[in-house]
Amino acid sequence: MENRQRVHEPFVFFALFFALTAGFGYAAVLVIAPALGYSAGPWWLATVQAHGYAQLFGWAGLFVLGVGLFFIPRLRGTVLARPELASGALACFILGIGLRVLLQPAVAILAGPAVSGSAWASVARLGIVVSALLQVAGTLLVIVMLTATFRRAPPLGTQAPLRPVRGLLALGLISLAVSGLLNLLLAIDLVARSGYTYLYAWDDALTHLMIMGFIVPISLALSVRNLPLFMRLAFPPRRELGPLLAVLVLGLIARLIGGIEQTFFPLPAFAWQLTGLGQVLEGSALLAFIWMIDIPLRRKHPWTESRIPTPPDVAAARKPTRKNYPDYGEYGRFELLIISAYLWLAFAAIIAVLNGGAEIVSASVIFDPDVERHALTVGYITLLILGMAVRMLPGFSGKQKVASTRLVLATFCLGNLAAFLRVAPLLKPDLPLSSAGLASSGVIGWLAVAALAVNLWRTFRPPQARKARPASPSST
Ligand code: HEM
Repeated sequence: MENRQRVHEPFVFFALFFALTAGFGYAAVLVIAPALGYSAGPWWLATVQAHGYAQLFGWAGLFVLGVGLFFIPRLRGTVLARPELASGALACFILGIGLRVLLQPAVAILAGPAVSGSAWASVARLGIVVSALLQVAGTLLVIVMLTATFRRAPPLGTQAPLRPVRGLLALGLISLAVSGLLNLLLAIDLVARSGYTYLYAWDDALTHLMIMGFIVPISLALSVRNLPLFMRLAFPPRRELGPLLAVLVLGLIARLIGGIEQTFFPLPAFAWQLTGLGQVLEGSALLAFIWMIDIPLRRKHPWTESRIPTPPDVAAARKPTRKNYPDYGEYGRFELLIISAYLWLAFAAIIAVLNGGAEIVSASVIFDPDVERHALTVGYITLLILGMAVRMLPGFSGKQKVASTRLVLATFCLGNLAAFLRVAPLLKPDLPLSSAGLASSGVIGWLAVAALAVNLWRTFRPPQARKARPASPSST
């Protein structure tokens, strides 16, 4: 297969690598340490930011970029231009993420109580700036590849598959580029302050921009194009996607500006209201989107019903597919992962609307903001990746099925359990089992991703690498 046809594979490999190390690995430490009585000192605070970075730029970011580099050109009716740049972009991302996740906790440990103290800590801080520069360089290479691809593509027809989702994709790419620049400015500021964490208000803006500006819009775009095919749903009405995107963007901007209130606005009440308005807009746009994509309710007729019916004799000769799905079960129960991902998205959106409403009315929140963040990141993003990976990636690489359907079911159970244990204890922290549940969520999330990694490895390994089964005595 050509280089450009397998461009996604190394991106997915390193997405899994970062998830299983600094992503869910650090996550497990972050929740186990307080349960064992270790106090959340500088190392904990620095590791939180390193974990967020590994998960957003590494796990979700590299997965979304890998799939995007394969899929977006095809939506535009062509293949990726300048694919030789993909390995350079990936090398920048790997080094950039690697440096950041190692150096930020190291700065906090090396600096010790006299935060600006050690010379090694200063060197490590400079390494964080280099990491941010590499992130910007990798993003630039991705933009060069996509721009070259779009330039040589045929004119965009009115029925082109890219048309309904181009706004979501544009929002995703702009947010990725802005996140890279903001990350660089925050890294420079870290050096200037001799600190070990990014400034909190700006760090929140960075993580929110990555989640709601980059990962969620691209995931929605991939869902609009693929889920009607994979799950026999109706295609969402094209015209309604535009207004929804506008509401999402307005919400995102209001929330980002409101969140940086201390820097921009001397009047805190106004800042609360702006953040609250942003949350209500974002949450409402997401709920409307879920309604339109029709998961899990399946209110509308599937798109296949409008096709010319297959002649009865041809239909009778075909092997019947699974009820309501176009496959024969060769990807396992992937739909359970997708449906649960969209239920978690609906939950996160409702929390955003309720918290937003409370912020507007009383300048306070009802739920810990971490409920929304981890319902989105573990519940929606991670479960969607787990489901899309087994349904899409085998086909991208010329395989017809996933190696183990049982492992797909295992990722569904473990992924949902991890999301539940990460989020539910925040709603009732004083229940006896809450702290044990929270402490176990990181390890369970790690196991869910490990199950996917094993399944993909078994799916993609070359046939000669598979062990020949010893023939049973009766089979000679
Ligand atoms: C079950 C798995 C996970 C556990 C146990 C976990 C744990 C944590 C903890 C303890 C924090 C600090 C919260 C606080 O400050 O109160 C945190 C922050 C964060 N987590 Fe997770 N997490 C998990 C999964 C994820 C995933 C999958 C993502 C993204 C895809 C993610 C993204 C973030 C982000 C962006 C932050 C904020 C980082 C910052 O402040 O810069 N987490 N996580």
